[in-house]
Amino acid sequence: MQVLAVASELYPLVKTGGLADVAGALPLALKHYRVSTKTLIPGYPAVMAKLRGDTVQRLHFDNLLGVSADIIETHIDGLDLLILDAPELFNRPGGPYADATGADHSDNWRRFAALSLAAARIAGGEMQGWQPDLIHVHDWQAGLVPAYMRYGDTPELPSLITIHNIAFQGRFDASVLPHIGLPAHAYDIDGVEFYGGVGYLKAGLQTAWAINTVSPTYAEEILTPEFGMGLEGLLTARAEHLSGIVNGIDTDVWDPRSDTALGTHYSAATLKARSVNKRAVEQRFGLDQDDGPLFCVISRLTMQKGMDVLAELADEIVSLGARLAVLGSGDPWLESELSAAAARHPGRIAINRGYDEPLSHLMQAGSDAILIPSRFEPCGLTQLYGLRYGCVPVVSRTGGLNDTVIDANPAAISAGAATGVSFNAVTTDNLRRAIRRTVGLYQSPKIWQAMQKQGMKSDVSWDKSAGLYADLYAQLIANKG
Ligand code: ADP
Ligand code: GLC
Repeated sequence: MQVLAVASELYPLVKTGGLADVAGALPLALKHYRVSTKTLIPGYPAVMAKLRGDTVQRLHFDNLLGVSADIIETHIDGLDLLILDAPELFNRPGGPYADATGADHSDNWRRFAALSLAAARIAGGEMQGWQPDLIHVHDWQAGLVPAYMRYGDTPELPSLITIHNIAFQGRFDASVLPHIGLPAHAYDIDGVEFYGGVGYLKAGLQTAWAINTVSPTYAEEILTPEFGMGLEGLLTARAEHLSGIVNGIDTDVWDPRSDTALGTHYSAATLKARSVNKRAVEQRFGLDQDDGPLFCVISRLTMQKGMDVLAELADEIVSLGARLAVLGSGDPWLESELSAAAARHPGRIAINRGYDEPLSHLMQAGSDAILIPSRFEPCGLTQLYGLRYGCVPVVSRTGGLNDTVIDANPAAISAGAATGVSFNAVTTDNLRRAIRRTVGLYQSPKIWQAMQKQGMKSDVSWDKSAGLYADLYAQLIANKG
């Protein structure tokens, strides 16, 4: 089976969050199910810089929404990539979506429409020698792909759209419509129209053959007004085409027995060796060295992630004899709340506001617990890394956090099933109780180690979920026509 995947970021080339990890790992796991994927991504500077000699120019567009562009095929780390080389759209400083000041690029509507149109043209057979059987698109940046297939004049291929985060919807003014190459009749409630503008995610949800999101619980949650963010009506109408498949992680990249970012390697049988990594984390963050509990946070610092509630509890964490290391950046006011907490508690709380992939690995290997108090979390990957590394996840009971962590309640502890601590609604009181409970568990080494070991046994790989994607693809292809 040949699949064209379309994503706006992909590990190891360009990453702002979990989408990149998924786009980079799922195609590798799908190979075991005889699914070959080519992934189309934008040619950002970071991507173009990593192209090696073995590239092939596969397709040239004289006019892709007003710009000249090429599709370059290359192979990197086992991935088969199609790079959309369109310098006018993608060769610029800043991140994938925003400039260096953090403001969204003002032509994102054109940049990601062009990415989607290129994909639709490949689906339409323009790339000599290769024809996908199905298109799998990720998030709003690729949401227009099925709309181009629906409203274009080429045959429509089976399509799947994956929602990684419904909060990001790609909504633009209706005035962009004449410039994105869709006919006027596409501007309809059954098409790309969304509350008087153009909605890229909405368009994808409306026109893709099937929709999935990255955990079963989130698939239920987004049918409600609280989580659906205005799309719950559409999703409810299409509920029979909506499913949830939990993310996995790349267990080769994330393996405490071989991870090159670690001070010392270890396994469930040699958990004591984690203390070498704990010392390394303390040192990197300038924290006191002691054997009390060390919490970490590796996250975008946003309200979604509950970082406001965490900041309120900083003093409490210290008063419990625990320490906290934070790696992340995000909303300036949250960065400054957490920095202020670090300033109040030198040696006990520290924050690193950079983006540091190797340090994130070391923190999972050396911290005792990772705090993830998200208000909503489609899947979440850091709890999966935590499980694999014996870094006990402390999570709110939402989305994928609910589907992957087993709370240490008395029944789960006595059955040996517990892998973390979870709590309901994200309030200061609930998180405070969860943190206290975690510190209590840490003080019972037998229970704590049992939790660590049980977490390390959890299947967080892509194996099962890749199989579910392969089944879904096969079903869609079988229903063709
Ligand atoms: P989201 O995609 O909503 O941000 P996920 O948990 O799915 O949340 O994925 C976040 C990914 O980004 C994880 O791989 C996490 O380790 C990584 N990450 C987040 N912040 C940082 C940071 N400051 N440095 C390194 N990695 C980070
Ligand atoms: C999004 C979600 C996160 C999920 C990731 C990968 O960024 O916020 O929960 O893990 O996508 O699917």
